[in-house]
Amino acid sequence: MTPSRRKFIKGIGAASVLMATESFAKPFNIIKSLKISPNDKIRIATIGLGIQGNSDTKAALRNPEAEFVAAADLYDGRLVRGKEVYNKDLFTTRDFREILNRKDIDAVIIATPDHWHDHISIAALNAGKAVYCEKPMVQHIDEGRKVIETWQKTGKTMQVGSQPISGAAYGEAQRLLQSGEIGELNFIEATYDRFSALGAWTYSIPPDASAQTIDWDRFLGDAPKRPFDATRFFRWRNYRDYGTGVAGDLFVHLITGMHYATGAIGPNRIFSSGELSYWKDGRDVPDVMVTVLDYPETEKHKKFQAVLRVNFANAGAIKNVTRVVGTEGEIQWSAQGLTLTKRKLPKAPGYGNGESFPTFAEATQKEFLKEYDAKYAESDRKAEPVKEVKFDTPQGDDAHAKHFKNFFDNMRANSQKTIEDPIFGFRAAAPALACNMSYFDNKIVYWDPIEMKLKKK
Ligand SMILES: NC(=O)c1ccc[n+]([C@@H]2O[C@H](COP(=O)([O-])OP(=O)(O)OC[C@H]3O[C@@H](n4cnc5c(N)ncnc54)[C@H](O)[C@@H]3O)[C@@H](O)[C@H]2O)c1
Repeated sequence: MTPSRRKFIKGIGAASVLMATESFAKPFNIIKSLKISPNDKIRIATIGLGIQGNSDTKAALRNPEAEFVAAADLYDGRLVRGKEVYNKDLFTTRDFREILNRKDIDAVIIATPDHWHDHISIAALNAGKAVYCEKPMVQHIDEGRKVIETWQKTGKTMQVGSQPISGAAYGEAQRLLQSGEIGELNFIEATYDRFSALGAWTYSIPPDASAQTIDWDRFLGDAPKRPFDATRFFRWRNYRDYGTGVAGDLFVHLITGMHYATGAIGPNRIFSSGELSYWKDGRDVPDVMVTVLDYPETEKHKKFQAVLRVNFANAGAIKNVTRVVGTEGEIQWSAQGLTLTKRKLPKAPGYGNGESFPTFAEATQKEFLKEYDAKYAESDRKAEPVKEVKFDTPQGDDAHAKHFKNFFDNMRANSQKTIEDPIFGFRAAAPALACNMSYFDNKIVYWDPIEMKLKKK
């Protein structure tokens, strides 16, 4: 941080929460207009210091320019843990608004359950913060527009947190696809199967969980009121009131990766099937889901279909890759790397056993061969040999830290062009949420990916 900025910030210190008083109003305005210079630290706070809040905070801090100054969470144990892990003087609170009121904080990480994403993103942008919000960007499709409008109105930097796309394999997939290496794209399949209790979200519940150690009313937020329930608090993904099921949790990563690599902006037709097959622990979301998404032709690609699957009870072999197939090859990728396989059909169709040629009369066969030889040169008859190109993700490639670096670079440049801005984030979240609509309402969902609106048909 530059000395002048440090002095300003020190000068107002903890009193910044008391924004309402006239005497404090001026310094806040001056601070608000200060830009982050290249030498300044970027001061971050995390709202929701659970599993991903910690993972995000650590990834942000792997960029030496970040400084972690405050955290909000609703379970006291996580705030205590924040002081243990990061800094005993970390500012902690149950009330995220205290963080938004602090003018010395440049950016917030929002890693709460999904039903809080839109509310806190909008409040944070309006409070002048840059926002790193976890995926899925919103819990319901009708919440997306307001987040985008607030981002546009405030001009602040925002990044949505599907960090795998910042990994080297995704960049390489994008480069290969966009240079036409697999011909015309016609099909994508991607899976995110798991076979473990923790993989199926049955997370640990701490023995001190109670209505005293947890701010249950705030957790509920806009969800239906109900009595304190530690299982719902710590395993919120299992309930539609707070989470978005396997589609919002995992399909969204697959869709984000597909969109990033292919340049697609979204499907126009979505149909899901699934069931609650194994994890019958009171959850109200399926543990097996398969969805077909139809992507219309755009400038970037031909029409194609994508099939996505999550199976949380897959006791068979699990090989989670995204496989993008075209008319001249395919690319399969995961975080570890990718394989490009190229194959091209010869111009000549061939003739012989297993088709109609041998059934022709001898004279007709001779006539056929004469015509065939005249039509196809020797070179038209050979398929190109299969070529395989492998790309291994380099050791130490840190997609998560890079996702934050991209966020910080854009903040410094006063730019909104993050790798996963809210328009990109919503174009991935909305089809994932539409997968749930299709499953629960047992219908085909129609979506306009350009206008980002649900359609009748
Ligand atoms: N990008 C990824 O790879 C990835 C991985 C895991 C989770 N996530 C996302 O991160 C988010 C959090 O998931 P998680 O597994 O960390 O959940 P979690 O339950 O471990 O943590 C969520 C925390 O948010 C806190 N919280 C809830 N409402 C709050 C509020 N109004 N104000 C302040 N704190 C609040 C809770 O107290 C809890 O500690 C989800 O949206 C999830 O989809 C992303």
